[in-house]
Parts: sequence; structure tokens; C-alpha cells
Amino acid sequence: MGELREITAADIPAHVPPGLVIPFDFRRDFTTNEDVWSLAEAMNDRPDIFWSPDLGGYWVATRAPIIEEVFRRHELFSNRSVMIPPMMSSGFGIVNTEDPPDHARFRSILATTMFSPRALAGVEEAARQVTREIIDSFASRGSCDFAAEFARPMPVDVFMGMFGMDRDRRMAFVPWVEQFFRSAVPEERFQARDAILGLLDDWIDRQIADPSTAADGHIMPALLAARPDGRPVTKQEMMALCFLLVNGALDTTTAQMTHQMRFIAGHPAHRDALIADPSLIPHAVEVMLRRFGMINTGRMVRDDVEFHGVQMKAGEMVLCSTVIAGMDKAAYPAARDVSFDKGDGRVKHWAFGSGIHICPGAYLARMELRILLEEALPRLRNLRLSPKDTGAAVSGITVALPELHIEWDV
Ligand code: HEM
Repeated sequence: MGELREITAADIPAHVPPGLVIPFDFRRDFTTNEDVWSLAEAMNDRPDIFWSPDLGGYWVATRAPIIEEVFRRHELFSNRSVMIPPMMSSGFGIVNTEDPPDHARFRSILATTMFSPRALAGVEEAARQVTREIIDSFASRGSCDFAAEFARPMPVDVFMGMFGMDRDRRMAFVPWVEQFFRSAVPEERFQARDAILGLLDDWIDRQIADPSTAADGHIMPALLAARPDGRPVTKQEMMALCFLLVNGALDTTTAQMTHQMRFIAGHPAHRDALIADPSLIPHAVEVMLRRFGMINTGRMVRDDVEFHGVQMKAGEMVLCSTVIAGMDKAAYPAARDVSFDKGDGRVKHWAFGSGIHICPGAYLARMELRILLEEALPRLRNLRLSPKDTGAAVSGITVALPELHIEWDV
């Protein structure tokens, strides 16, 4: 992991002790054909917090409780930038790039009105229907690229359905969302972002013009009814919230689906245990959320501070990686093991973050991950990895498998 690169003194700020300097570029080093979580496991041999001179220089927390603390302690660590290297929001950032007290204004619309278990009660059947339709479209073939054919379109289909869009309108998003998250060419990403914003803009205008049409969906009625600071949500705020949700809801769920599916397809005993007893599936989803953490987010140090014996300066970034948190041997002595045995039934993990920014979409994500297994396992008999599978991962804010080739008996 990056040890061979030469570091010059100019790369290291004066307040960083030389013993804490270890090159690590989470984008490059976690983009690999090796097992990403074995690389994360190697973090157990590193200091609790170290400084990487890569990506402009940033701190890396390597122990789960410290990562949790960085997530939670917003009085020390700001969300003004969650990107490494830091990138401030250009007026369009909302919720995820806000600190208290601003953060609470729109957060409650997401957490209580849009994505609470009660609000999502009606979405489960639609998500199951979408899942069945997509699986049926390739089931008779005996193989597929699960990433391209299921994990990328499914969350878009469900999510745009929650906007009240019909199938054709929903499907118009799929190629743009794919280009937005997957393209390595910045111009292509900007083009895709503008296309997504254009489609959302058009849809929001229609709903504002005729709110009765919004009743079909789930997201627009919540936005139209919300009264932050006692006044309606502006169009600009609606766009920002919708774009935040596109950013938060799609690539994350897609990535987790690929890791979950690769594990199940590669481990027949685990697969068969879930087929024999589907009531284990919700627990298995949690176990795999822990074992295959895949979010790399960041925090900006607010003021100069000593944190766990390390001097940090205002404006420096700290990586909070759930890839690393899930492999902390102190938190999980058998970190590599995956057992669907329910034990006491609780799996502690940080896959959805912690503190005031904890993922408001966790219930929806869990629902989709569960439905995938409930529907795919009975339909795709003797599900297994294809010889074409490489496990190659691409890392950024999420660690994802761009391709996942699986097979089954027909
Ligand atoms: C397996 C799927 C998912 C994972 C692993 C995941 C993980 C996370 C994590 C770790 C955070 C905290 C980020 C931080 O503190 O900087 C977060 C925040 C967020 N997530 Fe998710 N997420 C998933 C799915 C979703 C879905 C389906 C939605 C939308 C419905 C969503 C919407 C959001 C939003 C809006 C935030 C920002 C919340 C805030 O800053 O207050 N996520 N997610």
C-alpha cells in the first residue's frame, strides 16, 4: 500500500511527527485486484492515527472507536468538506456539508418525513416488484454481470419511483447516473450531473405546477409539505436536497449490493444457510455491512486541537473509512470471519456512520439489500461466481465492484 513512494520533507507539515508519516492514497490503494479488506486489515499494524502525505496530506484514523469519535464530535470536526482533498460546496451543498445548527433544518425532513420506517411502509412492495422484474429479465440466461444488470439500475428504479415517476422517466436516469458515478473523465461527470439536474428540474417544476400529481410519489409530497423555519422549501433547496439524495442513495446501495452478492455467490455454505432459513437474511445483511464496509468520507479539523495525542491543525482533513472500521481487530477480534449465526442478534458496526450525520437512508438501504437476497436466492439456483469474476474494486467515496460476473443453473 504505497510504501515504495519516496517522501520528501516538503510533503510533511512541521507539526507531524516523522513516525506518524505513512503514504496511503485511499483512492489509488483501494482500487485494486487484491482483497480490499485485507488491505484494510493491515491498518491494525499502523498507529491509531497516522498522516498520509498523499492527496495533499490528510490524517487517517485506523481504530473503529476513534473513527466513530471523528464522526460524532462535530464540535471538533466539521462537515464543511467531506472530500479529501478538501472541496467546499459551491452553494449547492446541503445537509451532508452543513454543521449544527444549519444541519438540522433539512435533516429532519429526510429522517422523519421521507425515510423513516413508517414513511417507507408502502415502498417495500414496489421495491420487491422492481427486484423481481429485473431478475426475471435475465434469469433464463444462467449468467449476468450483476453490477451492470442489477446493482446499478435497481436502486435508481426504486428511488425514482419514490419521486412518483413512471418507468420510462425513471429509466432515463439510469445511463446518466452510471456515467456520473463511474466515469473517470471529469467532463463526462459534469455532463452527467447536468443531465440529472435537468431531469430533476423538469420533474420538480411539473410537481410544483400541479401538486396533485405529486401524491403518487413519496419524496415530493414531503418536500411540498415541509415548512423549515415556518416557510415552504424553495425550488433551489428542493433541487439541492434531491441532488443530495441522488448522491447519497444510489452509488452506495449499488456498491454494497455488489459486495454482498459476491460474498454469497462465492460461499455456498452461507448461501445455502440463507436458502434453508430466510429469516436469517436481515441478520446476514448486517453482518455483511460490517464485514464489507465501503465508505470513505472525511471531516475537516475546525480549530487546532490535540486529538488522541496527535496535534491537528485547523483545515486539515481526517479520513473516516468504514472499510477500515469494520476490520479493526480490537473491535472485531475475528474481523475476517463471516458468521450468519445470530448469537445475541446484534451486530455493532459503523457502515452508516455515526452521530448527527448518520445515514438517514439506512432503513431503505437495508430493505433493498434484504429484498435482493429474498428474491434472488430462490430464483437463481446454485448461484455461484463466474470464472470471469476478478473481484477488481474501484475506490473513491465508495469502494465498488464495477463488474460482478455470476452464474446459476437454468
Ligand atoms: C448501503 C447503502 C448505504 C450506505 C453504506 C450509506 C452510508 C452512509 C454514511 C456512512 C453516511 C455518513 C456520511 C458522513 O457522516 O459523512 C451517510 C450519509 C447519508 N446518506 Fe447514506 N448510505 C447508504 C444508503 C443511502 C440511501 C439509500 C440514502 C437515501 C435514501 C442515503 C442518504 C444519505 C444522506 C442524505 C446522507 C447525509 C446525512 C447527513 O449528513 O445528515 N444513503 N450514508
